[in-house]
Amino acid sequence: MTQPLDAFTYRNGVLHAGEVPVTEIADAVGTPTFVYSAEAIRSSYRRIERAFSPLGAHLHYAVKASSNLHILRLLHEQGAGMDVVSGGELERAWLAGTPMQEIVFAGVGKTEAEQRAALDGRFSPLLDDAERLGGANIEGRGPVGLFNVESESELEVLARVAAELGVIARACLRVNPDVDAKTHEYTTTGLEENKFGVAWQRVPEIFAAFRDVPSIKLVGMHVHIGSPVREIEPYESAVKVLLHLIDTLEGAGHEVSVLDLGGGWPMSYTDGESPEIEAFAEALVPLLEERAGNGLQIVLEPGRSILANSGVLLTRVQHVKEGREKTFVICDAGMHTLIRPAFYRAFHFAWPVRVDARHVPPAAAERVDLPDLRPCDIVGPICETGDFLARGRDLPPVKRGDLIAVFSAGAYGMSMSSNYNDHGRSAEVMVDGDRAVVINERQSLASLLETEMNPRVLTHG
Ligand code: LLP
Repeated sequence: MTQPLDAFTYRNGVLHAGEVPVTEIADAVGTPTFVYSAEAIRSSYRRIERAFSPLGAHLHYAVKASSNLHILRLLHEQGAGMDVVSGGELERAWLAGTPMQEIVFAGVGKTEAEQRAALDGRFSPLLDDAERLGGANIEGRGPVGLFNVESESELEVLARVAAELGVIARACLRVNPDVDAKTHEYTTTGLEENKFGVAWQRVPEIFAAFRDVPSIKLVGMHVHIGSPVREIEPYESAVKVLLHLIDTLEGAGHEVSVLDLGGGWPMSYTDGESPEIEAFAEALVPLLEERAGNGLQIVLEPGRSILANSGVLLTRVQHVKEGREKTFVICDAGMHTLIRPAFYRAFHFAWPVRVDARHVPPAAAERVDLPDLRPCDIVGPICETGDFLARGRDLPPVKRGDLIAVFSAGAYGMSMSSNYNDHGRSAEVMVDGDRAVVINERQSLASLLETEMNPRVLTHG
């Protein structure tokens, strides 16, 4: 898939997003700031769509990767449906213009209130604020196209809520295929020991139990084995488990019309780290082609593979501290801005935004072979030793006030950021050609304090 430096290029020693020098963005809106490339988002989306076109696969963007309304709108314009995992993401998808039919509602812990809002617009938590938000209306808002259900308990509650509302919930059962995706233990989801889905062996029994429940229509199965998955074989194994289950279910008289293969599709944090999406498609299309031709709807939920390399994080160096063996480059972004390095020890390529000709990075790599580099840790302002963006990197000389770009930060950057140590959340900017638009203002301290200003007495003795 796209490489970290594809959408962001050095011209005359300055990093550009499209036609825009990112230095101009940082000067105008400050730092830390996430910068996205609209063209990169569009082209990554199209590339996945094309790779799986022999299956006529429906793409539902995994909103959790980056949930800014403008990103959702851009993807909706490309034809994407949305995969949401909370009531909040559901409202964002709807506000971005996605018809309910094109929303898949997944997630292991849906509340009744979330189920209700996904079945009937009158329960949208935004209704009271509709006017202020300019468009949270519920006209035409029926049930979501699909629930991905993770347990029998959830099915039982969904059946009751749908019956109360007089609607039918269309659902896929999430299957745990007990397949090792060979990714980080925190993002491996398809093993029996993980909390996700129901054990594959129990699927026929659950389909049978809900066959005659009038408010639920089980239309197929969902599987998501992990993220990111760097090998093709775990997907092949999971698909084989699912195909076997389809045969069993059909043999028992059930109709299976949807197969949702989830997300986790490949993406590279260093150049060439992952096989290409086309290679995944080439392996999977033959397994599924005939069934897709006979009407089985294939659904994919890509997030990272569309967004990660479509975004960078800009951060400004606040202090440089020379240690004996390495230099600490202390920035205004940290684990509160991009938690992936701290949480998963994830690698993000990071490099100064303005460099001399000798220091233009040839590729995003763990080791860069250029003259006059020195070992650095790029760290944040948070009072935690785990607060780092990049450790043990050789960097060109940097000084206070310089800008650093942290690459591949478009997915799970902003969406996992926090207010730890009372920092407001970052600004977000979208670049399209020579046009840069602030699509999210930096969060103010006042907005952080708002909900604490007027304590409300609940009980008094
Ligand atoms: N579908 C389901 C059911 C998922 O759980 C996920 C990701 C996706 C789709 C999208 O996966 P993607 O295509 O983006 O790989 N925060 C972590 C990743 C956790 C992903 C959780 N689920 C990270 O920063 O790497």
